[in-house]
Amino acid sequence: MIERLELLLKEAETSIQNASDSKVLEETRVKYLGKSGLVTEALKGLGQVAPEMRPQVGKVSNEVKNRIAELLEQKKEEFESKGGASLPVGWDPSLPGRQSSLGKMHPLTRVQQEICDIFRSFGFDQVEGPDVETDYYNFRGLNFPLDHPARDAHDTFYLSDELLLRTHTTTLQVHVMEKHQPPLKVVAPGKVYRNEAVDATHHHIFHQVDGFLVAEGVHFGHLKGILDSWVKKFFGSKVETRFRPSFFPFTEPSAEVDISCVFCQGKGCRICKQSGWVEIMGCGMIHPAVLENCKVDPEKWSGFAFGMGVERVAMFKYDIDDIRLFYQNDLRFLRQF
Ligand code: DAH
Repeated sequence: MIERLELLLKEAETSIQNASDSKVLEETRVKYLGKSGLVTEALKGLGQVAPEMRPQVGKVSNEVKNRIAELLEQKKEEFESKGGASLPVGWDPSLPGRQSSLGKMHPLTRVQQEICDIFRSFGFDQVEGPDVETDYYNFRGLNFPLDHPARDAHDTFYLSDELLLRTHTTTLQVHVMEKHQPPLKVVAPGKVYRNEAVDATHHHIFHQVDGFLVAEGVHFGHLKGILDSWVKKFFGSKVETRFRPSFFPFTEPSAEVDISCVFCQGKGCRICKQSGWVEIMGCGMIHPAVLENCKVDPEKWSGFAFGMGVERVAMFKYDIDDIRLFYQNDLRFLRQF
């Protein structure tokens, strides 16, 4: 009996030592110490042992049981201190986990969508057009005659004498009105191009949102109302607008829209050059010549139009002082949005 118990202890020792994880260890415990485990079963034979031998056999069996329990406990602790049963060698569970990063929209895409979403909430439809345009859609249709000095501000990249990269998304006014008769309310976001030296406020590719509304009896008051509402939704309800006379060939009269400086609330600062106002977009009443070019009767219909640079608006909204930051793909910049 004693021999049998000592043999079981040896076996159990080897099994415990070789256990690869806590599951195997638990199986070993059940195998030897469980209700019908080998040690438990062996002890059932105690009744057949000669009475004078019983105390000694009882003592050894207790020692064997305790020793096995102790070995099991030691091995369990060893597993726990390693942080788990089946950890690969050299794996350090105390290292911080690797996070997978989620992509998100570029700030310009987001701002462009925010601009258009507000106009869409006013009932405007959103359209897109081609980046490569004819001289007609970019200039002549919009009342820029050949050799007109207003073309100087719109120098661009030419693919041929007639084909060019559009300098504004105002081209969509001609595209849309050629195909659809008023009433019309449209916003047109997209990329535009200029033959421009790159610096902190200029880039040869940038983005614009142009918009227009044509209906019966539309006047400058409607234009002011819509643009003032847009400004208050986009920049905040306390921001004021002011309309300054300007010139565009495709609008008459024309104006620039200024907003009270969002950084100093109109008091005067570095960004508004101490004036309290910053220019945010161009606008005006659509020139009758543009309506006529599109076979829309200017005696019956009138409309207003506006156009803004997405980068410029984003730079004011987020106090960004260099347009080039938008195109450098520097994650330290992009992650802030
Ligand atoms: N297209 C003009 C530009 O790029 C901006 C502009 C001004 C658009 C007045 C308009 C407008 O629709 O009415 O400089």
